[in-house]
Amino acid sequence: MNVPLLDLVAQYRAIKDEVLPALQAVIESQQFIMGPAVPQLETAVAQLSHARHGIGCASGTDALLLPLKALALRPGDEVITTPFTFFATAGAIHNAGGAPVFADIAPDTFNLDPDAVEAAVTARTRAILPVHLYGQMAALERLLAIAARRGIKVVEDAAQAIGARRSIDGEWRMAGELGWVTGYSFFPSKNLGAWGDGGMMVTSDDQLAERLRRLRLHGGAKQYHHDEVGTNSRLDTVQAAVLLAKLAHLADWSARRRQHAAYYSAALADLPRVRPPVVESNNEHIFHQYTLRVERRDELQAHLKSKGIGNAVYYPIPLHLQACFSHLGYTRGRFPAAERAAGEVLSLPVYPELRREQLDYVIDAIRGFYR
Ligand SMILES: Cc1ncc(COP(=O)(O)O)c(C=O)c1O
Repeated sequence: MNVPLLDLVAQYRAIKDEVLPALQAVIESQQFIMGPAVPQLETAVAQLSHARHGIGCASGTDALLLPLKALALRPGDEVITTPFTFFATAGAIHNAGGAPVFADIAPDTFNLDPDAVEAAVTARTRAILPVHLYGQMAALERLLAIAARRGIKVVEDAAQAIGARRSIDGEWRMAGELGWVTGYSFFPSKNLGAWGDGGMMVTSDDQLAERLRRLRLHGGAKQYHHDEVGTNSRLDTVQAAVLLAKLAHLADWSARRRQHAAYYSAALADLPRVRPPVVESNNEHIFHQYTLRVERRDELQAHLKSKGIGNAVYYPIPLHLQACFSHLGYTRGRFPAAERAAGEVLSLPVYPELRREQLDYVIDAIRGFYR
């Protein structure tokens, strides 16, 4: 049997009769730049996020970069984030002119540890940038409280967490609802994936929304009038049309991912060398990734590969140990929880179209390895 890590062809086959006509309509109209599907998707994603504004952009990377640019960081200004994330998170801070300051993660959830964040705040801190890793929200209420006390912003990296929510003071709050601004990625492998690159920012700050709309269009609200220097970072109409058609399925896809995750976790619960993901009781996880902590990770990885089972390590090298950040002066041992996670995590196939026999095959392969 073959169980790929992700099967976008299976998804395509299931929805092509909905997506292709939407795509064809864009082609027939020839409105490739800022056509009607773009504001439609912006409204829909803002609604999903309980935010007032959605602003499409070219990628999830830009969905972090443009808000950080809006902060007008000066050299030496710091943004606190996690070292255990995709590179773009910290890369955006650097490219916006700031210095990434890392804080360690909570070992259970792999998300930023608020106590570590608190300890990392300095007079130069301008923002906190939590990542809702693998689809589970970080401890946002605590990070928001730290930020409020210091008068700094929270920028959510929800690239992996569209539709995730967290119960705060007894109320469900969406990813993208409480932060100053939130970035989403529509990279094809994401829970809501385009047929190419794409991203979106959501915010309920009216002024910031205007600013971000300008920044993605070379800094001009009116054609040929430039209030500041922005860039070209638009979401293509073609991608917006694909995403709008797919958005109708997102809740169902994420529910199926949760079901698969629960099935794996129950079947692996008795293995002492395997630790299934911890879902906090106040979180609704969307399982962009189903990520175990395991012993003998690299051997297990090879074993699964030999059985035709796709898997991946997200992420093998924490960002404080990346060569490009050596000037920041971090050394090995500085963030033990992130470093340990980097050596132990393994993500399994969890895409919605997985069949029961495929899940059982993956489970049997893991159980067989540790027998
Ligand atoms: C946590 C995180 N942040 C940012 C990004 C950047 O998104 P993109 O690849 O769309 O630029 C990604 C995904 O790729 C991500 O997983």
